[in-house]
Amino acid sequence: MSLYDALGGAQAISGALDAFYVKVFADPRVSKYFEGVDMVKLKAHIGAFFAMALGGPSNYHGRDLRTAHERPRSMGLDDATTDVFLGHFREVLEEFGVDQARITEVMDIAEGGRDEVLAR
Ligand code: HEM
Repeated sequence: MSLYDALGGAQAISGALDAFYVKVFADPRVSKYFEGVDMVKLKAHIGAFFAMALGGPSNYHGRDLRTAHERPRSMGLDDATTDVFLGHFREVLEEFGVDQARITEVMDIAEGGRDEVLAR
């Protein structure tokens, strides 16, 4: 079963995406990196991140992650903040009842972007 199915299809994915957006937006530790960046971009970010975590990095054809995060890095984006961001993502998966094995699998994909985001 794909993660898409595991999450319950299109409607559940859209709900999970909204839930993740609300968490990121409400948490100043991560939302501050989007200050001066419009909310449309935050939504695009959440959407792009989610798609990558579900389908793998090859689905994304925009700016590479290293370049896309130049500004957040200049604002101090680090491992601890990335942990917080990914923690919100894990919470959403848990709240939507995804089983632990599947969560581990998806978190590994999400983690795969960390080094590029942090430019190392
Ligand atoms: C592994 C984790 C991450 C992935 C896969 C990811 C993915 C992306 C992608 C694909 C973009 C480009 C979106 C676009 O231009 O349409 C982007 C931009 C951005 N990301 Fe991330 N991101 C990650 C982690 C983070 C974290 C932890 C933060 C901050 C807490 C963050 C903040 C931003 C910001 C502020 C932008 C917009 C930068 C700008 O336009 O100047 N990202 N991210």
